[in-house]
Amino acid sequence: MNDHDVPVSTGAASARQVSAFYERHPYPPPVDDLKAHRQPWDDRRRRAEYHLFWPAEPYREDLSILVAGCGTRQAAHYALRWPRAQVIGIDVSARSIEFTRALKRKYALANLELRQLAVERVAELGQRFEHVVCTGVVHHLPDPDAGLRALHDVLEPTGTVKMMVYAPYGRAGVYMLQDYCRRLGIAATEPDIRDLAASLKALPLDHPLAPLLRNSPDFADRAGLADALLHPQDRSYSVPQLLDLLGRAGLAFARWVRQAPYLPWCGALASTPHHARLIGLTAEAQYAAIELFRGTMVRHSVVAYRKDRPARGAPVDFNGEAWLDYTPIRLPGTLAVRERLPPGATAVLINTKHTYNDLYLPIDAGQERLLAAIDGERTIAEICRERGDRSLARAFFQQLWRWDHVVFDISRVLTQSDAQTA
Ligand SMILES: C[S@@+](CC[C@H](N)C(=O)[O-])C[C@H]1O[C@@H](n2cnc3c(N)ncnc32)[C@H](O)[C@@H]1O
Repeated sequence: MNDHDVPVSTGAASARQVSAFYERHPYPPPVDDLKAHRQPWDDRRRRAEYHLFWPAEPYREDLSILVAGCGTRQAAHYALRWPRAQVIGIDVSARSIEFTRALKRKYALANLELRQLAVERVAELGQRFEHVVCTGVVHHLPDPDAGLRALHDVLEPTGTVKMMVYAPYGRAGVYMLQDYCRRLGIAATEPDIRDLAASLKALPLDHPLAPLLRNSPDFADRAGLADALLHPQDRSYSVPQLLDLLGRAGLAFARWVRQAPYLPWCGALASTPHHARLIGLTAEAQYAAIELFRGTMVRHSVVAYRKDRPARGAPVDFNGEAWLDYTPIRLPGTLAVRERLPPGATAVLINTKHTYNDLYLPIDAGQERLLAAIDGERTIAEICRERGDRSLARAFFQQLWRWDHVVFDISRVLTQSDAQTA
């Protein structure tokens, strides 16, 4: 395929408004140096990422990856991190594609193709993909169902989707300020954005937007401010709405990219009288309830498959004996804190990617030894042979997984039907 532009024609006025918005305010703010923002990944980082999306598949790097609505740099990041993959980035914004093209030239990313093309017209690429990445885009589409369905249609049967959409409750302040700006006729022009930034300094400290203004990198610059508060098309999805959105597009929920914030075993809810009720609910009902209890989620990042994907072995499961053959792989972001420890703990594990400070996992000396023995090669059984008690190990590796400190390569676990035919 050539690296040339294809005219965009979504047909809808709001789609034109959205693409005009991103021509004026490309997002994220363009950079000309990828390494300053993120180091290229090593093999272990890639394996962890791969098995987050495909726990039951043997590791591969020659993936076909679509970055849909790639903005100014996301497709270049993927091409840099996955040098043996073929990456295609599409976006309606010619300027965003042009910024990414400059990164492609600078880093000689021969494995990256770029097209100015709407998500809704992705079928025109005439290709299917093993991995579709679509973050921060679907909630800006005039018809999110049609956009996601189009992505489903170019997904290989065994492919995986990574999607991020806005979540409603943590963004209540954003929607209030969007309404405020509409009422005042504030436009996404440089003078209006400058005045808005100045006026927000007078926002009451207890306004629902205030924590986001203080803590979210999205508000650190004018492009982020415009993207959040002056966007012509922006909706959000609660957990039940997101699961419905996936279902209507022919997709099935697999897991959260970071799952601990949604699980009743992790964080403050685990020690409340409601814990027992929560764990009696279905997984979907747990996620929905916990989103309401946390109250401040601003986005959901989800892994999804095609509903009709062929069965690929059993999911991660700590009942039975299969877990002994799982190979744990450390996820990035784990930090062992050694101050102000609870009794008996030698460290507290936190994941720096989490935004909630109740998601810490105290560990003792024996567990620290198990953690140190994870090398991405040995199975849990192999680690336990040297390190003792299996029932303690089962509980600990399940905790590490729930708290987003490891993923598992379970591709070597035989399913029952495999075992019967072997
Ligand atoms: C908030 S940015 C997210 C960029 C990138 N995915 C990321 O996470 O950094 C949204 C991007 O979606 C693009 N976009 C909006 N509507 C689109 C459509 N219908 N088809 C393709 N891209 C679209 C915009 O031009 C913009 O670059």
